[in-house]
Amino acid sequence: MKRLISLLLVAFLLLCSACSADTPASGEASSTTATSGTESSLPDAETTVTTSGSDDYMDASLAPERRAELLLSQMTLEEKAGQMLQGAFYAVKASDLTANGLGSVLSGGGGVPSSNTIEGWQKMVDSYQKASMATRLKIPFLYGIDAVHGHNNVYGAVVFPQNIGLGAANDPDLMYQMGAAVADEMKLTHTLWNFSPCVAVAQDPRWGRTYESYSSDTEIVTALALSYAKGQMDNGVIPTAKHYAGDGGTVFGTGEGDYLIDRGDTELSEADFRSIHLKAYKDLVDAGVPVVMASFSSINGVKMSENKYYLTDVLKNEFGFKGFVVSDWEAVSGLSGDSFAENVCLAVNAGVDMLMEPTRYADAGKAIVDGVNSGVIPEARVDDAVLRILTVKFEYGLFEDPYMKNLQTKETKLGSDEYRAIAEKLVEKSLVLLKNEGDVLPLKKGQKILVTGPAADDIGAQCGGWTKTWQGITDKENGGPITEGTTILDGLKEYGKEIGIEFFTDKSRIDEADAVICAIGEKPYAEYEGDSEDLSLLGSLGLSGNKDALTLAQTTGKPVIALIVAGREVNISQYLGDFDAAVMCFLPGSEGEGVAAVLTGKANFTGKLPMPWYQDASQIGAENPKLLFEKGYGLAYA
Ligand code: GLC
Repeated sequence: MKRLISLLLVAFLLLCSACSADTPASGEASSTTATSGTESSLPDAETTVTTSGSDDYMDASLAPERRAELLLSQMTLEEKAGQMLQGAFYAVKASDLTANGLGSVLSGGGGVPSSNTIEGWQKMVDSYQKASMATRLKIPFLYGIDAVHGHNNVYGAVVFPQNIGLGAANDPDLMYQMGAAVADEMKLTHTLWNFSPCVAVAQDPRWGRTYESYSSDTEIVTALALSYAKGQMDNGVIPTAKHYAGDGGTVFGTGEGDYLIDRGDTELSEADFRSIHLKAYKDLVDAGVPVVMASFSSINGVKMSENKYYLTDVLKNEFGFKGFVVSDWEAVSGLSGDSFAENVCLAVNAGVDMLMEPTRYADAGKAIVDGVNSGVIPEARVDDAVLRILTVKFEYGLFEDPYMKNLQTKETKLGSDEYRAIAEKLVEKSLVLLKNEGDVLPLKKGQKILVTGPAADDIGAQCGGWTKTWQGITDKENGGPITEGTTILDGLKEYGKEIGIEFFTDKSRIDEADAVICAIGEKPYAEYEGDSEDLSLLGSLGLSGNKDALTLAQTTGKPVIALIVAGREVNISQYLGDFDAAVMCFLPGSEGEGVAAVLTGKANFTGKLPMPWYQDASQIGAENPKLLFEKGYGLAYA
């Protein structure tokens, strides 16, 4: 009798397991096709699963991590590896997403759908989601984007000042409002994951990413990043603290490959590394930041993306980080292994949970599967990575609302007056008055002002890199405004009408002018393209037209008001004496009229330099550097 019962029991269990082993929803889910730009693809996903399998992970009353555990227990190794992959939108076809079960798709700088509109974005993102929901376990994917100073890839979205200007403004309340505003515009496009804030603590202004840093002061960086990230999280989008860590501390001359300083080596004691470059991460982890991006750079010769001590022992174990670590764009290829596959294993074993591999995502997935099967990667490491990724997806409601039908947005369109007003306030507060001899500012009723210089009437120059395209582009090069907004000149003319000041650009009328505004600056650039030997405004990174504007400033007998529109404290030592007044505008973004508000006295200067202003590049890193202005410097109207 006992044997009969045990036979019946076995039959019952077999019947159960056969039921729970769902056959793939679509043919694609079980087969994997080589995809464009990749040499191979994941081996066929096994269709049998080894656990009881049920969808109680859809029980929203359970804690996100518990739901993630339940889901994880049903996943095959191939499905787990898929969640650890992020491919670029231009390389990932919907069928890829289904076949490889990718955890995420991203836009790199400037990556936009053919129709760069809310509808175009929703159509693209939703089509990927449809492909995700066609996988066996229907795990939603995440779309990642660099909305680093507004939703800057998207036409018509508000473009806020770059981080260095926000550091000069140093207003945590406004940073929270900015985080919330950017979250709203991201949700309108169904892009829920932001590769921002950058919490670099930039030390050397020759770094092309200096403008992505709020300050050389860890406390300012921490306070502003926290407020911004909370504004994002409280409004349902996923911020990313980047680039972990020490991206802003690299030594000039150690840049990766032939870069001058970008992606180079930070050489510090652990104590200094922690106090300068890790502090912000500890506070952001305590505040619940869901993602951290590993840096291309190294600490004392060890690449962060394969640095187990800092990624796992410090960030995850000591700081208690429960989210997931994403590698940077193809950063795996710069690691110390002898092959791509070996580098994937190095990164995953060090603590990278998701690999940003724009085109080689399938190869990366195969390397993970092979790594586990060969014992190089413990499966427990893969389980930990997937658990972290799934927990974030559960926390942010992706399983309940994968098509974001119930997303609450305050606005129904991009570029609302309310959000532009927040950006304009930040512009006003980001301006730093460097000198004002004879109180030539504020401009006064009845004056006639000549406005010159390549940065006076150009939204692209105001925005800098990471705007419309990865490197950014001037209106001049673009053949017209790169996006909606106001230039500095637009604002001057608007306030001039109101106050009774005439602004003109016709140089032949210079004799009529009471003063000359000379707006000079840097070309837009991003990352290593902005690395500079000498911070010169007349070199390859200066706007064409700087020289003529500076020559006019030096030769006119009129009072000269210089506006510097640049991503960092550039070399102005040899011109400063020619200026009666000088204003550091940093990169104000789409709301240039904020500059005009302060120049015309509608608002006062409150901005303070977030970094020291070196007399010239030779002073950077010196024991007692000669400075033009100290960090914290900034004048105001009496
Ligand atoms: C870039 C940057 C990083 C950005 C990522 C995706 O190389 O280093 O800040 O988030 O790629 O665009």
